[in-house]
Amino acid sequence: MTAIVRVELGARAYEVRIGTGLIGRAGAEIAPLLRRPRVAVLTDARVAGLHLPPLEAALAAQGIACSALALAPGEATKGWAGLERAVEWLIAERIERRDVVVALGGGVIGDLAGFAAAILRRGVRFVQVPTTLLAQVDSSVGGKTGINSPLGKNLIGAFHQPSLVLADVDVLGTLAPRDFLAGYGEVVKYGLLGDAGFFAWLEANGPALAAGDAGLRTEALRRSVEMKAGIVARDETEEGERALLNLGHTFAHALEAATGYSDRLLHGEAVAVGCQLAFDLSARLGLCAQEAPSRVAAHLAAMGMKRRLSDVPGDLPGPEGLLALMAQDKKVVDGRLRFVLARGIGDAFVADDVPPDAVRAVLAEALSAA
Ligand code: GLY
Repeated sequence: MTAIVRVELGARAYEVRIGTGLIGRAGAEIAPLLRRPRVAVLTDARVAGLHLPPLEAALAAQGIACSALALAPGEATKGWAGLERAVEWLIAERIERRDVVVALGGGVIGDLAGFAAAILRRGVRFVQVPTTLLAQVDSSVGGKTGINSPLGKNLIGAFHQPSLVLADVDVLGTLAPRDFLAGYGEVVKYGLLGDAGFFAWLEANGPALAAGDAGLRTEALRRSVEMKAGIVARDETEEGERALLNLGHTFAHALEAATGYSDRLLHGEAVAVGCQLAFDLSARLGLCAQEAPSRVAAHLAAMGMKRRLSDVPGDLPGPEGLLALMAQDKKVVDGRLRFVLARGIGDAFVADDVPPDAVRAVLAEALSAA
């Protein structure tokens, strides 16, 4: 069964198709978009080894010619050099204005390929084929594309919506359990920010879903993408509501900076820890009952996920150091700390001007907890 979620953006509306066997049907799924039977695929070397042959076979079965560039796996590819390589390759491949670029990979490839498509010949269309849970539920949907600057992550980019997203649930079977759980951090985020019923569903079904149940995985993806699609349709360029998707991210970005954007802490892991801290902060500020952060902690623990600062290997800066890292975050508006806080599970809101003392206290408590 394929679940379909539409991102309603007028003339730029598109579908996110979610289910099993989608890469094997990619030729038929993509063919209606093409004006001539050829595509260019951007991927990374690790993903190419796993998923490029079936994608190429599916395209060939529909008579679609395909050339592919496999970049080095990892965040370092998402910079000026990787972008230059991708764009110059697309030009050399004679990809024209009416052609389609296919992004096959996780968030790094999706962001980079989307941005390459946005600037090639002032914009060509692209299709996302996300191969990580994190990319399927977050980065492949919503049109944020870009690369990192040496001065910070995601500082260079454009909003450029894909023409189609194919989220093949089967690829999740090739993920290391740690990578799957990191992506699950973003799934939990959707329940926490806007749907208490979905969070309760995850409490009930999360362990079976992590163990591999394809039906439950499809449903978790469908609901996550449906929530993101609704938010993006109402606020494409993050003037307001879209900022709710940053629940946990102010803490997360400080932790990622503190750990050098390394394997010590994956982005999705940082988001899960950050969601926990956002709920701790909300309870400290009297915005929600203590029961809410306790439920978050219980679910993350039941899933075997990182949730405390002590779960992050190695030393972390103290509260002042982490606060200083937060102050550099691009979510600081006019020097004021901006957080997504919650009145309860499923009821998040954006708070400007959060008192630094409360943040300091939550961090001090979290750092001292064993
Ligand atoms: N990942 C956050 C957003 O797409 O807005």
